Amino acid sequence: MKVQKQELHKLIQNKLHRAGLTEEHADIVADVLVHADIRGYHSHGAMRVEYYAERIDKGGINTDPNFTFEKTGPTTAIFDGDNGVGHVVAKKSMEEAIAMAKENGVAIVGAKKMSHSGALSYFVQQAAEEDLIGISVCQSDPMVVPFGGAEPYYGTNPIAFACRGKDNELVTFDMATTVQAWGKILDKRSRNESIPDTWAVDKDGNPTTDPFKVNALLPIAGPKGYGLMMMVDILSGVLLGLPYGNKVSSMYEDLTEYRNLGQLHIVINPEYFAGLKVFKESLTNSMNDLNNIKPAPGFKEVSYPGQRSAMREQENEKNGIEILDDIVEYLQSDVIHHNSYDNKDPFAK
Ligand code: NAI
Repeated sequence: MKVQKQELHKLIQNKLHRAGLTEEHADIVADVLVHADIRGYHSHGAMRVEYYAERIDKGGINTDPNFTFEKTGPTTAIFDGDNGVGHVVAKKSMEEAIAMAKENGVAIVGAKKMSHSGALSYFVQQAAEEDLIGISVCQSDPMVVPFGGAEPYYGTNPIAFACRGKDNELVTFDMATTVQAWGKILDKRSRNESIPDTWAVDKDGNPTTDPFKVNALLPIAGPKGYGLMMMVDILSGVLLGLPYGNKVSSMYEDLTEYRNLGQLHIVINPEYFAGLKVFKESLTNSMNDLNNIKPAPGFKEVSYPGQRSAMREQENEKNGIEILDDIVEYLQSDVIHHNSYDNKDPFAK
């Protein structure tokens, strides 16, 4: 059913506050989830609320964290999230990175000890909305084979990038480093459909078209995606002294435990390079160039990354966001959670 943005925000905030988050933290998480839903990334929107509510309720997220921020150099810093809810840690650490990049031209801020932070586009757009370039990478739980391997080692380790042009139009590139998100395989299972053999492997590491035989996901573009997810793990895990690779905590294994995840923000101030005016003009020209490229057969037009989600956002802002009935019913109900996530194997049938 269609739900208006403000209504969805209120429902999510209420539920997470009732689960144990402060009103302020529940408000920020709701903001990040609605951002995902309104842009069409439902895998990182309201459908995650029940999992978060269960984890909060069971003590796996610190609801009263003591955030600390330490500058380790003129352009570097560590934000310790004390295992507070990931969306809040990612947002607040990005605010610090923005302030530092405004002052010094560039900032690299490592956010450590946090839970899942959702769609990274939200955080890089914080920087873009201040006329800076935002880059963010983070760890996620191991479910992807390294190139040539038959066992999972890395997570779907996403990479996001955003900046804006002279009419304040946003370029937002935000992707998992896997061919497909796990949610898409669950969707195929629910429809009893097969999957392309490029998405995932079975327990022996063989490509599979049976969504029920999936034992690990595949990186994008073989060794290249594998290299990218390794880079993300080094920047947001190894660099911050956190668990890395297959030692990264699982999303569902023990909902009473803190996750200790890491995220790294890199913020660049164009004023210190080409100058803001030249940067914004060239960026807009480049985006226009892309829109004017002759489309290939089967395509209506060429879009720049983030263009279609921005259009979706405008449309949904007016007409409401399509959210699955079950999710809206749960959000409207008095139930905090149904105890359905604890100890769930991500590859469980
Ligand atoms: P996706 O595959 O739907 O999109 C990837 C990128 O391609 C986007 O920037 C999109 O704008 C661009 N794109 C798609 N179609 C396009 C077209 N026709 N023309 C131009 N550009 C186009 O995204 P994916 O990989 O499924 O990721 C979804 C979300 O999941 C992201 O927000 C990501 O941050 C989040 N995520 C979060 C994780 C976490 O642990 N916090 C882990 C993995 C993903």
